Amino acid sequence: MNGLKSEMNVTPFEVTGVDDYNKLVTDFGCTPMTSAVLDRFEKLTGHNVPLGYRNFVISHRDFDKFLDSIENHEPVYLYTGRGPSSDRMHLGHLVPFRFCQFLQSALSVPVVIQLTDDEKFIFKEDLTLDRIGEMVIENIKDIIACGFDPTMTFIFTNTGFIGNMYPMVLKIEKLVNLRQILNTFGFSVDGTSIGKIAFPAMQAAPAFAETFATTLFKSSNINEIRKIRCLIPCAIDQDPYFRVCRDIASRLKHHKPAVIHTKFLPSLEGTQTKMSSSKPESCIFLGDSNKQIRKKINKAFSGGQELLDDHRKYGGDPNKDVAYSLLTFFSDTNTCAHASASFKNGTMSCGEMKSLAADTVTRSVSEFCNQRAALTDRTIERFTHNRK
Ligand code: TYM
Repeated sequence: MNGLKSEMNVTPFEVTGVDDYNKLVTDFGCTPMTSAVLDRFEKLTGHNVPLGYRNFVISHRDFDKFLDSIENHEPVYLYTGRGPSSDRMHLGHLVPFRFCQFLQSALSVPVVIQLTDDEKFIFKEDLTLDRIGEMVIENIKDIIACGFDPTMTFIFTNTGFIGNMYPMVLKIEKLVNLRQILNTFGFSVDGTSIGKIAFPAMQAAPAFAETFATTLFKSSNINEIRKIRCLIPCAIDQDPYFRVCRDIASRLKHHKPAVIHTKFLPSLEGTQTKMSSSKPESCIFLGDSNKQIRKKINKAFSGGQELLDDHRKYGGDPNKDVAYSLLTFFSDTNTCAHASASFKNGTMSCGEMKSLAADTVTRSVSEFCNQRAALTDRTIERFTHNRK
C-alpha cells in the first residue's frame, strides 16, 4: 500500500499530512494499542510502562500473541534498526530505540539491531559506501548510548553480516513477487533500480530467527529456532516491510513477526510530518549543543496565537505545538497535564512552553551525551562482534 487515500501520506520514504493517527492505524490495518494490553505487559513483567512510551505507542500487530509467548516462557527476541543517513541520529530516533531498550530491560531478552548501510547507498543518490561507513560508526555509538545490554544485543550492518543473512534473504526473495513489492512500497517499474526492489528482503530477514541460527540462537534443531518469536518496535512508517514478512511467515515455517508501532516525534517545522535526517532543518540532532537545541526549539512551529494578547485571550492548541509534543515524550505526567491545560487557556505563553521543552530536552540530551562519551572501543566491540 502506498500511502493513504487522504492527503496523509506515510511510507518508509516520506511522511506528510499526519493529522489523524486513528485513521492511519485503521488504514494500515493495524490493531490500536489499548491501556488493557499495556497493563497486561506490566502485570506480566512487573515493569511500569513510562508515560512517554504510553503516549507514543499507538498500535501493534500480534503484540498480544507475543505476550502469550512471554506468559508461557517461550523464547522471544526483539528486532529494530536504523538507516544510517546522517552522522548523528536525531531526537525522533530515541522514540523506538529507547522503547526497545525499555522492553529489553523489562523482558531480559536478546535484541538484534540492523544498520541498513545498503539501503542508504541504494536510495540516496549522493551517498558513497565510504561516507555511509563513517555514519555507521557514529550511529552505533548513539544506539549503544540508549542503554542496551551488551551481553544480549547484537548490532550489525547489512554489508558486514550479509554472509550470514544471505540464505534467509534468498528464501524471502523466492517467495515475494515483483507486484507485491511494487504495490507495498509504491514503486513504479520505470526508474526503480533493482537494488530498491531487492532491498525489502534485507530488512525482512532479521524478523525470522533462522537468520541467526548459526550465530545468536544455537540449537541443533532448526524447528526449535523457527519457533522463537520476534517483536519489532519501530515507528509506523516501517510497517510495510513487516507486512511483507507476515505474508510469507507461514511458508517459511515461522510465526508471523509481531510489530509494535510508535508515532512520530514531529518536525520542528510542524506536527504533521516527522523529524527526519533527510531534512536537517526539521531536526534536533543528538550531537547538538544546549545552545543550538534552545535556538532550534525557540524557532519551532507553535500552536499558540501570534500576538501575546490574543494568546492570553484565546489560548493555544497544544496538539499543534512542536514544543509540547517534545514534552509528551521527554517529560512526566504532571508536567504534561499542567502545560497542556495552561497553554489551552492562555496562561502559559508560547515562549514559556518553548522554554520548558528546551529545559527538558537539553537535560535529556546532556545525559545521553555523557553516556555516549563514556563508550570505549571495547564496549563497541562487545555489541558488534559476530557471535559464534
Ligand atoms: P530510520 O533510520 O529512518 O529510522 C530508525 C527508526 O526510527 C524511527 N523514526 C522515528 N520515530 C519517531 N519519530 C521520528 N521522527 C522518527 N524518524 C524515524 C523509524 O521508524 C525507525 O524505527 N529502514 C529503516 C532501518 C531499519 C529498521 C529495521 C527500522 C532496518 N531494520 C527494523 C525498524 C525496525 C530506516 O531507515 O529507519
